[in-house]
Order: sequence, then structure tokens, then C-alpha cells
Amino acid sequence: MSAARIVVMGTGYVGLTTGACLASLGHQVTCVDVDHAKVARLSAGRVDILEPGLAELVGRGLTAGRLSFVVGGRDAVRDAQGVFLCVPTPMGAGGAADLRAVEAVTNEIGDVLPAGCALITKSTVPVGTARRIRDLLGRDDIPVVSNPEFLREGTAVADFLGPDRIVVGSDDAAAAEWVAELYRDLAAPSVVTDAASAELVKYAANCFLAMKLSYVNSIAELCERLGADIEAVTEGMGHDRRIGRSFLKPGPGWGGSCLPKDTHALVRIAESVRFDFGLLTAAIDENVAQRDRIVAKIAGAVGGALEGARIGLLGLAFKAGTNDLRDSPALSVASVLAALGAELTAYDPAVGGEIPGMTVVDDPYQVTKGADAVVVLTEWDEFRRLDWTYVSELMEGDAVVDTRNLLDPHPVLDAGLSWQGVGRPRPRARVSA
Ligand code: UGA
Repeated sequence: MSAARIVVMGTGYVGLTTGACLASLGHQVTCVDVDHAKVARLSAGRVDILEPGLAELVGRGLTAGRLSFVVGGRDAVRDAQGVFLCVPTPMGAGGAADLRAVEAVTNEIGDVLPAGCALITKSTVPVGTARRIRDLLGRDDIPVVSNPEFLREGTAVADFLGPDRIVVGSDDAAAAEWVAELYRDLAAPSVVTDAASAELVKYAANCFLAMKLSYVNSIAELCERLGADIEAVTEGMGHDRRIGRSFLKPGPGWGGSCLPKDTHALVRIAESVRFDFGLLTAAIDENVAQRDRIVAKIAGAVGGALEGARIGLLGLAFKAGTNDLRDSPALSVASVLAALGAELTAYDPAVGGEIPGMTVVDDPYQVTKGADAVVVLTEWDEFRRLDWTYVSELMEGDAVVDTRNLLDPHPVLDAGLSWQGVGRPRPRARVSA
């Protein structure tokens, strides 16, 4: 395919990654946002999102003249061949996805889209949204296409340029093929289907990952009760190619901007067609139970009562490699600890500023100072390299709770501290020679 004229509506991490990556594939891309200041910053090559490789790609696209940023979509779309909708679809009342931004953009540009231009949903949208957009548009000459993204925060550029698959769905087969062709240079397998199936693929994939994680967290709990080691159990499971090695790490629960909202949304979607998706509801409930078990573990580590206990938190982001706090399991653990009267100090290498219920500091050792317990909540690599002897001098108590099984327990134990992971037996301190 020769270079296509593409407009991307929304410059969040999905929209900006999509725009910058499509420009790097040779397409002519205009990114649209409502935020004047953000558009000015992006036009000057300044990227606020912590996403490896993204700022470089934006810079290259700007220099090559293949990427630009504007406010307002009406002018931008006038000669577009394809318009990607990358606006937020947050969790609305009752757990269903809130489609107001999608509808607002459709209304904004609907009457000026040139005939034949594909309107493509990239944000995760409920099954049936393509049809809803078509009804809203009221135009037979605009094919509506679903092309869900599978980008993980923190590796979005790598995921975009090295995808496992491209999924495209439309009731207009030619339009779906045209969108799939935009990615031809990536040499990834593509699944070209109808709109409803493409929309469902996204939920089915994210919810499967969430169920896998809830399952692993449950197995980790069983390990603790049965004296088994989750590291060995997941290694033994992961070699089975039918299961796979990824998404088998237990933690304080799963979170972020996608899995929680998509699991709730799929439960609502199922309800709308009178299907009780008990399996998925159980995975959501298990995620709350995991948080509560982590809180109980921390309480146990400080002698049972959290009232007045000084707890140092290492990590706040929902996973390492991002500064995103949306639905962060670290924050949900913290909020329960705070509600039970714990005094919290927290450090995260990517997060600063004020967070209610805790004191955020900019040095990991400050978190450990005077602490009764130190809790690893996000798997930042730098926590592995802490000087535990120094930490033990700073701490009041001796408890280290590693909710990500991130640390090598031995240096922690050697420093005279206690260590507890998730689903792992407590190792004995090394006997010194
Ligand atoms: C997720 C999906 O992985 C992407 O494929 C999808 O495109 C994206 O949502 C989306 O819908 O936009 P993301 O939210 O960036 O990506 O985060 P993940 O890497 O999937 O992690 C989700 C949660 O699971 C995090 O809290 C993470 O810490 C946790 N997790 C992940 C574990 O506890 N253990 C693991 O082994 C893996």
C-alpha cells in the first residue's frame, strides 16, 4: 500500500503510539486532541507519557514531516482516508464502558468525513459499538471498522511494531482489508472478520489475562497453605506450551487502566444478553480477595494490628515501567492500610506529588526510616539493588513483605530482616561460615 492519509483522534498513550508508529511505517498522520497546551508540547516534540521509544518516534515523525498535531478534528479529517478513534472509554456507572467521548468525536467529524473514509475504533469499545457509530453517523458511504489495540503500557511502541497479530473487523470487508494493509510492513498475522467479533476479541483477550492472573494468585495462596513454592509451580506450568510462561507472576492483584475496566465491562455486556459470566465475576472477586490477603499479610508482619503501624511502601504505579496510577493495586492496598490506621510513607521512581493518605518521598531509604514494615508493591528493578544492611539500620521493625516476589530474599535475611513473598516458603537465613 502507498502511504495513507490517516487522522488519529486522541493523543493518550494509545493514540500517540498509534500515530507515531503509523507515521514510522510511512503513513501521513495528523493527531488531534482537544487540549491546546498538549498539542503545542507535542508539536515541539515534548512527550509527557513515560513510554520507551515514543518520544524518539514522535521526533522522527515531526522531522520527516509525516506527523503533525492539531486541535480540532473537522479540518483535519477533510481529506483523510482513515480516522482512528483513540479517545478514552472509562468505566461508567454500573461497570459498563462510557462511550461519551467516542460519540462526541463521531458527532464532531461525522458530516465532514469524505466519502469512503474508514472510521476505525482503536479504543476498547463494547461489542455493537461499530453498529452504534454507523447509526449515529447515518451515512452509508463511511465504513466503520474495529481494529483493537493490544498495547501494554511501558512497551506500547514495541508491541505496536512487533505485534502477535492484527485484528480488524468490519461489516464492509473491503474496508477491513484496507485497514489490515496499513500494517503490512509489520509482517504479523492478521485476523480479518466482522465488527462484532473484532470488538469481542479485545475483551476476550484482556479478560483471559485477568482470569489467568486471578488463577495464579489463587494458586499462590494454595502454595502458602500447602507449603509449596509458586515459583516452581509456575515454572512447571509455563513450560506447557498450551499454558505459556507469561502472566504467571503472582502479585498484589491486577490493575491498570484496562484489565479492571474491561473485566467489568464484559460482565455487563454478558448481562445485556442475559448471560451470567460467573467465571469472570469470580476472577474480579478473587482480585479483591488477593488485595485483602496482602493487607492481612502486612498486618501479620507487624504483629497483627495496623493502627499506628509505620509502613514503608516501595512502588505505587500499577506495574513497573509506567507512572500510571489508574486502578493501581499498590494504591488499593495502601488505601486499606490507611483506613486501618497505618501511617504510610511511599516511594516510586516514576511517581511524585501528593497522594491522599500517605507521604510520598523521593528516596527509597526515606521510606524505610523508622518503618515497622517495608512492602514492595511494584516490581521496579532498582528495589532489587537496595542496601538491606543500611535498610535494617534505618528500620524500627524488621518485616519486609515482597508482594511481587521481586527481591532475592537472602541479602534481606542476611541483614537481619525477615522476608515474606507471595506463595513462597520463607527461606531460612544463610548460616555464615
Ligand atoms: C493490558 C494488556 O496486557 C494489553 O494487551 C492491552 O492492550 C491493554 O491492557 C489495553 O487494553 O490497552 P496493561 O494494562 O498495560 O496491558 O498492563 P499489563 O501488562 O497487562 O498488566 C496488567 C496488570 O497485571 C498489572 O497490574 C500487572 O502488574 C499485573 N500482572 C501482569 C501480574 O500481576 N503478573 C503478571 O505476570 C503480569
